[in-house]
Amino acid sequence: MENKKFYITTPIYYPSGDPHIGHCYTTVACDSIARYKRMQGYDVMFLTGTDEHGQKIEEKAKERGITPQAYVDGIVEIFKKLWSYMNISYDRYIRTTDDYHVEAVQKIFKDLYDKGYIYKGKYTGKYCTPCESFWTESQLDENGCCPECHRPVVEAEEEAYFFKMAPFAERIEKLLLETDYLRPKYRAQELVNNFIKPGLEDLCVSRTSFKWGIPVTFDEKHVVYVWIDALSNYITALGYDNGTYDDFDKFWPADVHMVAKDIMRFHAIIWPAMLMALDLPLPKHLAVHGWITFQSKTGEAQKMSKSLGNVVDPFMLGERYGVDAIRYHILREMALGADSAFSNEIMINRINSDLANGFGNLVSRTVAMADKYFSGTLPEEREEGEFDASLKEIVLSLRDRVDACIDETRLKNALEDIFTAVDRANKYIDETEPWKLGKDETKKARLASVLYNLLEAVRVISTLLSPFMPTTMPKVWEQIGAAADEATYENAGKFGVLPANVTVHKGEILFPRIDMEKEIDELNAIIEKNMAEAKSKLSDAEKGSEFTPSALEEEISIDDFGKCDLRVALVKSCEKVKKSKKLLCLQLDDGFGGRQVVSGIAEWYKPEDLIGKKVIIVANLKPAKLCGVESQGMICAADTPDGAASVIFPDQSLPCGSKIR
Ligand code: MSP
Repeated sequence: MENKKFYITTPIYYPSGDPHIGHCYTTVACDSIARYKRMQGYDVMFLTGTDEHGQKIEEKAKERGITPQAYVDGIVEIFKKLWSYMNISYDRYIRTTDDYHVEAVQKIFKDLYDKGYIYKGKYTGKYCTPCESFWTESQLDENGCCPECHRPVVEAEEEAYFFKMAPFAERIEKLLLETDYLRPKYRAQELVNNFIKPGLEDLCVSRTSFKWGIPVTFDEKHVVYVWIDALSNYITALGYDNGTYDDFDKFWPADVHMVAKDIMRFHAIIWPAMLMALDLPLPKHLAVHGWITFQSKTGEAQKMSKSLGNVVDPFMLGERYGVDAIRYHILREMALGADSAFSNEIMINRINSDLANGFGNLVSRTVAMADKYFSGTLPEEREEGEFDASLKEIVLSLRDRVDACIDETRLKNALEDIFTAVDRANKYIDETEPWKLGKDETKKARLASVLYNLLEAVRVISTLLSPFMPTTMPKVWEQIGAAADEATYENAGKFGVLPANVTVHKGEILFPRIDMEKEIDELNAIIEKNMAEAKSKLSDAEKGSEFTPSALEEEISIDDFGKCDLRVALVKSCEKVKKSKKLLCLQLDDGFGGRQVVSGIAEWYKPEDLIGKKVIIVANLKPAKLCGVESQGMICAADTPDGAASVIFPDQSLPCGSKIR
């Protein structure tokens, strides 16, 4: 069993809010790889955990009036509950607040300092006085203000320790361009051009402006800042510089670190530099994936965010469709490197087409026919026939193809390959027409061969699918009569493993078909409720911090503003503009005899939502024709964070024609 070791890691997550489907992606992907490698006979270490220090956590705890430790303890419990719910088979869970990690990070920091790679300097940055936070230029909002409270920042300095990056630049450039460390490789050049070519900047690795961090042992007013603390987890969890674990020599270097693109730079440049400074071997691969974005009703891709209420709750999805269907969906949709939009429609389509109609149907049809024609037990007489060879060929070559995808962390492709075999097997049913064979007493041997070949295809497919959908596949083995020692990795490379007189057992439907329309209505109702709840729960400060307003327009004088005549008007009647999905035509009492205005708000308002309401209009706008209908002015509305329009309703008691100034 020489060399049969495998070490894979997820990022350690910030417990600053509840986990969502985005966090599940990396974890489910690493879990599937870990399970596959175990099935191949590897001794696997699969690590995940939480990154619990930092200013944000300190502030959140303060807001709630509890200690940072109590705050993170609460959220870590939810993460662990989610991982157990999603069947995540991690071997070790690291918390950066664990004593052994704290002790090891302190030693690593001191070691780097003693070697001359860490030095004391001055951190100059943009400082937000009310938030007591330093920000880098690139973190500021569009107006150059604090990204948290959007107030102006000032130039300020604080004493800090820095990690020297320059000595490692050349080796890192080679690592990125000349090895297959980074996956996908096409991102390497962009990293080299953006960060290495302009000269690697030293990294600020300590702070004095907050306390919730690991103290620097030789200068206690400093705490270790973010990346030395966080990245070290991959080695401290194996026992590096601590006595709690002792598998560093066995598992290091890691085979795969998997992360999303926003933290690629830290894993592609800073982590290798730290390891070079510590004289440690480098990990073999860094697999970078995109983001799961949320596809809004209007079709745009949005970042998942609490204030938008669009965070997709994995517990809720699991309850409705089963955990395996969710695992399958996120892995099947996400390609390495690319973003993928999450929408309920895509998910339900995927579950219905691949799992209910594709694989589920293959299993249930095969088992049902063995049950119907042979009372569940196949006879031993056989007759080979047309189409058998091509089915066998695709099934027999499947394992090698999936192995290659797993080794290259291309899980979407692995599932695509497996489902090509599912489609082939379903086609084999259509080609061989077993229902016709069943009617003819002389064709029983041929029928037995067809059903046996199908059962074998299902055995191989379900074995290779089991790391991805670990709950469902044992149910398949039960149904097709495969014993545990028949559904193994070794046997997934063979055809003819089930006994000739195998007995099947009809069972429950594996993936019930989902009624698309009904589900979409129900899910949309849940999302809308969540959005409303999320908004009402957030404090005003939080709402502000999660919403970035668009850039301010160019400055104008009071006289310029005076040219714009805003008035209060009453909506007397309103109807949809024919042939347009977006426009409403409103008849208004503007205090000057009335006017007609056309407004692009039909996606968000029905005519009856507006009739009888007072609105604000731009009253001196040059008339224009929209879809052939004249509009004499414009209704004022605010942009909402999810890209909708929210009409501004003034006080109903204001008389029509009142001027806004
Ligand atoms: N604590 C750091 C990682 C330190 S690793 C030494 C961190 N934590 S995080 O919780 O903010 O994010 C963890 C990972 O989850 C990141 O790779 C992040 O990109 C990923 N995701 C968070 N939301 C996501 C999606 N919506 N989609 C895909 N991945 C997402 O960064």
